[in-house]
Amino acid sequence: MVSHQRLAGKVAIVTGAASGIGQATARLFADEGALVIAVDRPASAIVTAHAGQARIVALAQDVTAEGAPEAIVAAALREGGGLDILFNNAGVAANALGEATTDAQWDDTFAVNARAVFRLCRAAIPALRERAALTGRARIINTASVMAERTDIGLSAYAASKHAVAGLSKTLALELGKWGITVNYLLPGAIHTGMTAASFEDEKVRAVWAKKAALRRLGQPIDMARAVLLLASDEADFITGHGLVADGGLTLRT
Ligand SMILES: NC(=O)c1ccc[n+]([C@@H]2O[C@H](COP(=O)([O-])OP(=O)(O)OC[C@H]3O[C@@H](n4cnc5c(N)ncnc54)[C@H](O)[C@@H]3O)[C@@H](O)[C@H]2O)c1
Repeated sequence: MVSHQRLAGKVAIVTGAASGIGQATARLFADEGALVIAVDRPASAIVTAHAGQARIVALAQDVTAEGAPEAIVAAALREGGGLDILFNNAGVAANALGEATTDAQWDDTFAVNARAVFRLCRAAIPALRERAALTGRARIINTASVMAERTDIGLSAYAASKHAVAGLSKTLALELGKWGITVNYLLPGAIHTGMTAASFEDEKVRAVWAKKAALRRLGQPIDMARAVLLLASDEADFITGHGLVADGGLTLRT
């Protein structure tokens, strides 16, 4: 039987998988045949988010914790026998004027959005190299934001952390290409997730952001999951160091 599942036989790590973009991507990856290590915290949230999903292994880890990268990669090796796809997606929002941003706000934002992404990439590289040597390919995909290229008032720490994701991804793409590992990053626009739920509860705010996009709607987590699947699939073999804007045309206008 010919399988039409685009990730059949692959093992993937998805962080921030209890909610929003990560949750939808873990589900889509599993539907496409992958075994998914779904990482988030607390345990109750990640276990509940994927209850009953046979191809999703819930793993409670704070990605910023000491030893977390090693524990996450070890889970992929234990449960799946290797690692094909790393989707670094866990992230936190931050909003404060630059002059009012505290050291703690800056550090907390960077700890999740940039440092943890780097540390999990670093920990995963040996396993990704091993798999790429066998199959010809492996993938890293990191969630940045349209704020990796632009910004807005109040986003000094957030935009800087997402620019860091772009710089890290492009550098790793250059370093890992010779092993057949591609490294790309996603630039979501305004997506209706846990992170934005509070502001999008307000009908007026929702309408403003929907109207800004060429497609005249907010993005949904499944829209992002499909974009990540494009980058994760075998069809993306020659795409690396690329920032995929998935914003419904939000940033077209000047
Ligand atoms: N929603 C948007 O409009 C938007 C736009 C651009 C970029 N993004 C990015 O998309 C990514 C996913 O966010 P989302 O919108 O789905 O939000 P979300 O809040 O629904 O999901 C983020 C998940 O990450 C998890 N997480 C946060 N810190 C963690 C940690 N230390 N360890 C483990 N898990 C942790 C949270 O518990 C949560 O489940 C983030 O990197 C975010 O910056 C979102």
